[in-house]
Amino acid sequence: MARFLPIFATQIIFLLFLLSSFTKIQVHGYAKTMNKNLMGLKKEKLTHFQIYWHDIQSGQNPTSISVVRPPTNTSTNGFGIINMIDNPLTAGPEMSSKMVGRAQGFYALASQEEVDLLMAMNFAFIEGKYNGSSITVLGRNPVFSKMREMPVIGGSGLFRFARGYVQARTHNFDPKTGDATVQYNVYVMHY
Ligand SMILES: *[C@@H]1O[C@H](CO)[C@@H](O)[C@H](O)[C@H]1NC(C)=O
Ligand SMILES: *[C@@H]1O[C@H](CO)[C@@H](O)[C@H](O)[C@H]1NC(C)=O
Repeated sequence: MARFLPIFATQIIFLLFLLSSFTKIQVHGYAKTMNKNLMGLKKEKLTHFQIYWHDIQSGQNPTSISVVRPPTNTSTNGFGIINMIDNPLTAGPEMSSKMVGRAQGFYALASQEEVDLLMAMNFAFIEGKYNGSSITVLGRNPVFSKMREMPVIGGSGLFRFARGYVQARTHNFDPKTGDATVQYNVYVMHY
């Protein structure tokens, strides 16, 4: 009898181990279906913002700086340049108009033939009830087209589950300094 005890004991320990891991899975279930209404996600709504995005490359306090410069002779249209931005978003086209947030992220010149940007930025709102909420814009921006459309791929705060698109139109562009003001019409579905 004593001879079998160690084997018996290991089997029991193994069984206990199996049981405990089994009950752990039961207790700490990592996925479950939830009720949308209980999370306050009742009715999806569509919000439109018309805001102005200021790309300031000149002066003492640029908000858009080149962080990657490709070798000068690899392309004629700046392919490979990357700018990091913390651009003001205002309610009107003038810089003096009400500040509603900042566009934080980067854009990259992603075409060898044209001037097409890859935009990856968060619109971080600071105004009114939107203060602290953000939306994420990721898309293609062929800057010399009259109107460019880019997807809104998500958001935070009031913009949880956000999806939508933006339409960007250049308001003014100074080729000498590189400074630009762009009108953004944002259409976003959220709860
Ligand atoms: C760029 O310049 C370097 C050095 O002058 C040269 O070796 C290279 O071939 C050039 N590349 C192109 C694409 O012209
Ligand atoms: C936005 O929220 C921040 C942090 O909670 C707060 O410090 C700031 O005063 C708020 N701004 C406005 C305009 O409400």
